[in-house]
Amino acid sequence: MNLIFSAKTALLSRHISLELATTAYTADQLPELCGAQIALAGRSNVGKSSLINALAGRKKLAKVSATPGKTRSVNFYCVSPYNFYLVDLPGYGYARAGRNEKRQWGLLLEAYLTRAVPPAALVLLLDCRLPPQRPDLRLFAFARDMRFSLLGILTKADKCTQKEIAHRQKEWSDLLGKKPLVTSSEKRFGITDLWQCLVDASGTNLPQDA
Ligand code: GTP
Ligand code: MG
Repeated sequence: MNLIFSAKTALLSRHISLELATTAYTADQLPELCGAQIALAGRSNVGKSSLINALAGRKKLAKVSATPGKTRSVNFYCVSPYNFYLVDLPGYGYARAGRNEKRQWGLLLEAYLTRAVPPAALVLLLDCRLPPQRPDLRLFAFARDMRFSLLGILTKADKCTQKEIAHRQKEWSDLLGKKPLVTSSEKRFGITDLWQCLVDASGTNLPQDA
């Protein structure tokens, strides 16, 4: 990334705001919205809601918890001044959730991902500390079969050494065909670059004055 592009991106992220537009707890509550949707998917506890907060520059927009399974609904956040949505999805792969609960979340996730109008992009959140996990690989294979535009994001990079980060990037690059972006919501690392990727993926043009 060159310096002019970086400066423009930093300026851009300061002009963006996020607000919760609506929430769906069941498949039949999934809304029809005008504007592209970019969905954030990943295992429970990988840091989806924290990333929404980091992108918004707020602490409590999305509910965060050290206990997996916090987000049980599909939450639609409107991105202003652009007309697209970031969608926080319930996490998958939480081993300790009850069978019925897991089924409910699974159905909601599947209902969202198989809608007639698919998301403009699916962001796969991947824990930087762990090698590719089976549920992540399953979602990756599904998304590839559905021909989703995919963006890989490594989370919690503050907990990893440079060596680990490079190793994880290599593993996921081999699968995704492109390098995942490295982020830390805790240290606000990679957030500005992520905004640029999200705006690009939404198909929205940069404002003239940015
Ligand atoms: P579900 O809603 O259960 O699917 O989880 P989630 O993917 O939304 O994860 P959430 O954002 O709630 O974060 C889970 C835990 O990880 C919390 O304790 C966060 O504080 C922590 N966490 C999230 N992002 C980071 C990060 O970048 N660095 C560190 N060190 N911790 C993080
Ligand atoms: Mg969450």
